[in-house]
Amino acid sequence: MDYLRNKDLLGIWHLEPEEIALILDTAAVMKKVLDAPTKKTSHLQGKSVVTLFYENSTRTRMSFEMAAKFMGGASANISTSGSSVNKGETLLDTGVTLDMMSTDFLIMRHGQSGAPDFLANRIRASVINAGDGMHEHPTQALLDMFTMRESLGQIEGLKVAIVGDCLHSRVFRSNLLALTKMGASVYCSGPSTLMPVNIKDTNAVYTKHVEEALEGADVIMGLRIQRERQKAALFPSIDEYAHFFGLNLERRKLAKERAIVMHPGPANRGVEISSELYESDHSVISEQVKNGVAVRMAVLYLLNLWRNRV
Ligand code: CP
Repeated sequence: MDYLRNKDLLGIWHLEPEEIALILDTAAVMKKVLDAPTKKTSHLQGKSVVTLFYENSTRTRMSFEMAAKFMGGASANISTSGSSVNKGETLLDTGVTLDMMSTDFLIMRHGQSGAPDFLANRIRASVINAGDGMHEHPTQALLDMFTMRESLGQIEGLKVAIVGDCLHSRVFRSNLLALTKMGASVYCSGPSTLMPVNIKDTNAVYTKHVEEALEGADVIMGLRIQRERQKAALFPSIDEYAHFFGLNLERRKLAKERAIVMHPGPANRGVEISSELYESDHSVISEQVKNGVAVRMAVLYLLNLWRNRV
């Protein structure tokens, strides 16, 4: 397969394993561009990339903007503060307005699950989901898998332990879908109050004993405690959370010696992950950030191919 099947990238749920492999292979080529002295291609020359973020972001928004620039495209950013969203303009009217300005790619983050899907069906531009509510964050899962493959050689057969606030995490949902599609096993742990109610119906193995999840793992992924999405106190205290579930150097020893430590960021150091582990030789958290640019370049490149062939 040498192209994606759809106009948009809305979630991992609609990607075939072959499409995921294509994105990862393309990202490997794009990473060489990032490592070159002159970071420039002309793949998006004459194309426009707009980032529309209704929620805060550092990594995702900047990496899409950098990706567009490295590929010769024009990029612009619109955030809710300073735009007519603050005057009450609807998502649809905002999206159609940007579409009419010849936007080719609309990168969108929204607090409502399904918002990118809603807009994608109504505008001409290709919509890329940069995180929607508690639903999906597909490019995060793709860059996570790229990092695993780069560090460990393959994804199939890996034991991936995901620890933290899975309930509110779109990163967890996209990773669970992506990793199981690519043949990895996903174990998750955290307080039962921070797990999706249907966790037993998914492909993830849930254990409330973090040690069980970490035992023999190839990958340890910490997830942020999303206090901004919690409507009630879902665990007794931060200290207690860190004591029972926090990732640290001691707990890392339960995993394989070669195991890598990941976190999508931003991290609450000292809560879901200790500073020592975050900065240890096992940590690939900084590499995840760099790979985020390569993966987003790959997604833009492949969606542009799709747009050019119709
Ligand atoms: N991982 C992630 O989505 O980070 P940002 O919120 O900084 O984009």
